[in-house]
Amino acid sequence: VFIILTTAHDPLTVNVGFSVLAGITTWSAIPALSAIFIKAGLKGMDLSKKSKQILPESMGMVAGLIYLVTMFVFIPFPFMRWFTASRDGDPQELTQLTFPNLKLAEILSALLSIQSMVFLGFADDVLDIRWRFKMPLPAIASIPLLMVYWVNSGVTYIVVPIPLRPILGQLINLGALYYVYMALVAIFCTHSINIMAGINGVEVGQSLVIACSIAFNDMLFLHSSTSNAPAFETHLFSLYFIMPFIGVSVALLIHNWYPSKVFIGDTYCYFAGMTFAVVGILAHYSKTLLLFFLPQIFNFLLSSPQLFRLVPCPRHRVPRYNRGTNLMEPSRVVLDQDGLDEDMAWRSAHPALHSNDHGKQMQHRNGMHGRLASSALLPPTSTDAAADASLTPPSPSFLGRPSSPTPSKSRYTPMLNPHLTRPGWYCIKILETLGLTEVRYDSRTGQRPLEITNLTILNVILLKAGPLSERNLTISVMLVQLVCSLLAFFIRYRLVTFVYDV
Ligand code: UD1
Ligand code: MG
Repeated sequence: VFIILTTAHDPLTVNVGFSVLAGITTWSAIPALSAIFIKAGLKGMDLSKKSKQILPESMGMVAGLIYLVTMFVFIPFPFMRWFTASRDGDPQELTQLTFPNLKLAEILSALLSIQSMVFLGFADDVLDIRWRFKMPLPAIASIPLLMVYWVNSGVTYIVVPIPLRPILGQLINLGALYYVYMALVAIFCTHSINIMAGINGVEVGQSLVIACSIAFNDMLFLHSSTSNAPAFETHLFSLYFIMPFIGVSVALLIHNWYPSKVFIGDTYCYFAGMTFAVVGILAHYSKTLLLFFLPQIFNFLLSSPQLFRLVPCPRHRVPRYNRGTNLMEPSRVVLDQDGLDEDMAWRSAHPALHSNDHGKQMQHRNGMHGRLASSALLPPTSTDAAADASLTPPSPSFLGRPSSPTPSKSRYTPMLNPHLTRPGWYCIKILETLGLTEVRYDSRTGQRPLEITNLTILNVILLKAGPLSERNLTISVMLVQLVCSLLAFFIRYRLVTFVYDV
């Protein structure tokens, strides 16, 4: 098959053939290497299963390496015309002088950036690097690529949308800021996939939808333009990079799909993110690329109070597995451990007030969590006042959302809780109002926040759809990703006519 492929004249045919070969190789290599990875200590516990199984971690390394080998072997093919020119007596006299050195430099720098991220991802899997150190690494890994970008095209202007042109003119030159923007795209693409993770198949699933969207976008362009169109070659090169990625990812997903036989590790998340950033930068469509990342942008914005530590962030924010039902439920983070302990003690001292399990579920569903509409509200840290409040009879709203909550006299002061900053508290209130998190309040006052659901898109899906199996949650994420890709295509090819002249 290899020999047949290498004799093909069209580089794209060779690339697609190589992608299939890369996929088959990855698919067969992963089971063969699983035991070796476990023996080397590369393993993790499947958190959302009855039997806490130990699975090999960092299998993205296998996919990443096979991808890189495939791309290395593919490097000569786009330049085949120059190799065979003298032999074929090409009339166009394709000589060394006309060889597109910068195109080759572009491919090499792109592969160097991807390879660096595979390496750094693996280092993260092994060493568990701290967030503050690993955050800027993709920007550093993208320097070779940005350097070639500067030498090659160096385009640093952006086209101003039509409505803003009377004020800003047709073009704005961002200069050095454009390079900062592209480095930020690299940081965002890599980390945003890593924080939308933790259930079987979700990282590879979302990456595959993004990769297929990129490939489809390239094909649309290639189909609708002639080979001498300015962006034809960049889209062709984008396709060369993305097809082998799709090949290895499909193979990896087969083993990572529920119930997973292997974990993909941070290695795959970084590898995938950097591959997307590379094609976005090389093919000059970082804006369209970011449209394909709409769920990741949403998840990042939602997560930011926890990422920037305005709100406590536990080691794992992945949804909670309910052993009884075998379903996934939103996971929670404790904001106030003392308050939670006091609340539990008060609840167990007053079982009659919350013995109704159905009522409890209602509180969970409504996000009220034992909120009392009490007229005698007390300061959150006062235990004497808490004892008084324990004598206050609960209103009927204890078993559900009150129809008209009694206005509170004392307001909750976030500064009384050392783990919750004031901006963090305002973020929580906004997200609660938007229905993006569920807050559990103190049973006695309904004022003191004790815990919230972790701020991730996976938890939001579970809050809206109710508990789901792990497999269905992954499918839901992939569907959301797909719908966002369709929206991205609609914005890119339909709405764009209102904003840009295309
Ligand atoms: C990121 C998330 C963290 C999430 C974790 C899950 C942030 C800031 N960090 O951390 O909240 O819990 O990813 O990957 O949002 N695992 C499973 N099933 C899977 C995949 C992973 O149980 O399908 C578990 C395994 O124990 C595995 C571990 O997650 O060992 C991998 O976590 P890791 O990639 O090290 O977490 P981070 O990327 O640091
Ligand atoms: Mg991870």
